[in-house]
Amino acid sequence: MEENKRYTKSIERLNDALGKEIATTLQYIYFHTVFEDAGYEHIAHLMRSASISEMRHIEHISERILFLQGSVNMNSSFPTRQINDVREAFEFALKLEQSTVDTYNEYSRLCAEEDDAVTHRMFQEMAAEEEGHLDIFRTELQNLKDYGSQYLALQSIAHSKKASEK
Ligand SMILES: [Fe+2]
Ligand SMILES: [Fe+2]
Repeated sequence: MEENKRYTKSIERLNDALGKEIATTLQYIYFHTVFEDAGYEHIAHLMRSASISEMRHIEHISERILFLQGSVNMNSSFPTRQINDVREAFEFALKLEQSTVDTYNEYSRLCAEEDDAVTHRMFQEMAAEEEGHLDIFRTELQNLKDYGSQYLALQSIAHSKKASEK
């Protein structure tokens, strides 16, 4: 497909974002399965929702790239980290979201400067959603710091109680 030269930079940014979204989707679904297995139902559920939200970003970004007549580079930008500790997971997720927010703010600004209003708005909207994730992870990390192992123990108890009722 002939690439629309006017949008070369937007397409590059979108493909960069795509790789990060794929990596993040996989990372969160990894956290989901590990923490579900450990019986931390609430955390597992959070990670699953976040993963689905990132997957929707993959879809929207890909559609935009195709609309701009670019080619979709459907590849993960980093391999999934095998983090099995809850606190480490939240710290890593928080870092990921912060760096994504920073990147999308920058990309949004650059796209506006190049008169690509739609991609500009897309990055803006995604940045807002990533801030939502950031907020959730920050709260969880704070709970973990405040209540420590009790926080996890309570989730495990709720999980086994539910299992015994089945
Ligand atoms: Fe995302
Ligand atoms: Fe996110």
